[in-house]
Order: sequence, then C-alpha cells, then structure tokens
Amino acid sequence: MSDKFQPKTAVQLDPPRDDPITIEELSKYDGEQSDKMYIAIKGTIFDVSHNIKAYGIGKGYHVLVGRDASRALGKSSLKPEDTDLAVSWDYSVLDERQLKVLDDWFTFFSNRYNIVGKVSNIPSTSSAAKN
Ligand code: HEM
Repeated sequence: MSDKFQPKTAVQLDPPRDDPITIEELSKYDGEQSDKMYIAIKGTIFDVSHNIKAYGIGKGYHVLVGRDASRALGKSSLKPEDTDLAVSWDYSVLDERQLKVLDDWFTFFSNRYNIVGKVSNIPSTSSAAKN
C-alpha cells in the first residue's frame, strides 16, 4: 500500500465499528451538542474528536464536522454550498478527478481516525451515481 497518506507518527487505531448512525444523529457529533466530533466520507464515519486544532469550534475545518463531508472534500471546498447539511453527503456531482481526491481523503482519514459507524440513511442518489 502507498505510504503517501501515512501519518508522520504511527496511529494506533481501534477495530472499525459499523454501528448504524443516521445523518440526523451524525449532525449532533459536532463538538457542541456532543463532546465528540465525527466526519463521514462516503457513509463511513470517522471520530476526529482528538484533532481540535483542525476541527474544533472556530477552527477552519469545523464546517466539515457533524456531517458526511464527501462533496466538500472531493471538491476541495469549504464553501457553504458544498458543506451544507442538505447536500454535503451527495458526491454524485463529482467528476473523475474529484472522486480520486475523495478516495485519497478516505485513505488519509483511515490512517488517522477510528471508524465508529456507518451512515444508515444516506439518500440514494450517492450510490445511484456509482451505477
Ligand atoms: C489555501 C488553502 C489551504 C491551505 C493553505 C491548507 C493548509 C492545510 C494544512 C497546513 C493542513 C495540515 C496538514 C498537517 O496536519 O500536517 C491541512 C489539512 C487539511 N486540510 Fe487544508 N488547506 C487549504 C485548503 C483546504 C480546503 C479548501 C479544504 C477542503 C476540503 C481543506 C481540507 C483539509 C483537511 C480535511 C485537512 C486534514 C486535517 C486533518 O484531519 O489532519 N484544506 N490543510
């Protein structure tokens, strides 16, 4: 496997969990309504709580927290039109290059953050886009 996205110091990760979590529940893991901060990519939920510097309240990447941020990550965008809860999960709008960027982010997160569950009710257009 490529080392390109490996953290500088090894991260000890827990076995991935596949607890079903709805997108509404996920929105509460935003560091405000809960101490925990979660970010999902393509429905897989990562616990980013320990990275307050990047994701904490008032920090630059806080807009990605408490949601499936696939669209924003794929588009390298922090704009509301890509991070808004209503659309952030929908990566059916991404082109080939952006889908590759998104997969690279998935690898990046997989190497750093524990997987704590799967979004149980992602609307169907994101998977439809794959067919
Ligand atoms: C001028 C533009 C940008 C600069 C200078 C910048 C810079 C950085 C830096 C210095 C890091 C930390 C790397 C490290 O931990 O070693 C980082 C991480 C990150 N950036 Fe950016 N960034 C920019 C734009 C963006 C945009 C538009 C996005 C939207 C998707 C983004 C998403 C992220 C994410 C998700 C991380 C990973 C944080 C983590 O989990 O460690 N960045 N960026």
